[in-house]
Amino acid sequence: VQPNFKIPSYTITEEEFSQLSRLIYQKIGIFLPPTKMPLMTVRLQKILTSLGLASFSEYYNYLLNDKSGQALSLLATKISTNYTYFYREEAHFQYFKDEVLPFLAQKQKQKGELRLRIWTAGCSTGEEPYMLAMLLKEYFGAEYPRWDAGVLATDISADVLEIAQQAIYPKDSIERVPPQIRHKYFTKYDDESVQIIDEIRKDVTLRRYNLMNLNPPFKLPFQVIFCRNVMIYFDPPTRSGLISRFVNLLEPGGYLFIGHSESIDRNITGIKPLIPAVYQKV
Ligand SMILES: C[S@@+](CC[C@H](N)C(=O)[O-])C[C@H]1O[C@@H](n2cnc3c(N)ncnc32)[C@H](O)[C@@H]1O
Repeated sequence: VQPNFKIPSYTITEEEFSQLSRLIYQKIGIFLPPTKMPLMTVRLQKILTSLGLASFSEYYNYLLNDKSGQALSLLATKISTNYTYFYREEAHFQYFKDEVLPFLAQKQKQKGELRLRIWTAGCSTGEEPYMLAMLLKEYFGAEYPRWDAGVLATDISADVLEIAQQAIYPKDSIERVPPQIRHKYFTKYDDESVQIIDEIRKDVTLRRYNLMNLNPPFKLPFQVIFCRNVMIYFDPPTRSGLISRFVNLLEPGGYLFIGHSESIDRNITGIKPLIPAVYQKV
């Protein structure tokens, strides 16, 4: 039986692809080689259909005229991976708790500044920043209210931030989380899901921010920056530019965490490696 409606199917010309991939590279930092052409066409079909656009050229113009950043956010959601999970690359969280926090707490106390600013750039659905907020609270215990401590969590995709805002996760997604943390900071939401308690949610500020924006709206330096598994699709110059900006935004003695499969160009100055994928500003 033939359906009596037709779902539009789009083809992309080489010229349209190179136009679009140039825009993606400039605006999002993601480099898409021509081998990604078929995959892109499939992934973006739905956007074109829902916008009632007739071709990829129209879509390109639509993106150029987008002042709100929403079109870019949706495009980023489609072409990048948002894959993340609680306690990912757990050696980093151990190191954060056992080395980073004691060092920074001492340093800040000596300066008389009870302030800790942590940024997770490319936070996806929130598992990473919430875990850091829980570890902060665990570490400081009764002293915590005296500290101006919190986590800024940013991502280019509004969709993932909305999930992060809800802070509701499948209950089996927290199996890896150490039991003392799991029991304290998650509550049952329904039979299938758990939710992070308000006390932790209020210490995580979620904001849409594109890392390609060279003028971040942050006033004070950070003591810790996590940018893990975000730069995998960026080419070496984009990655190096971003790392240099992170170094500038860190306070001396501050820490930068990147993904285990990512690397930092040896020519970058101002930071030294500590353990795999963790660096300190000198
Ligand atoms: C694989 S997730 C990483 C999540 C988490 N950091 C982790 O390691 O599990 C990558 C995230 O980077 C975000 N991203 C990609 N390009 C970006 C850009 N130009 N600016 C901000 N975020 C970006 C994506 O939207 C995605 O949510």
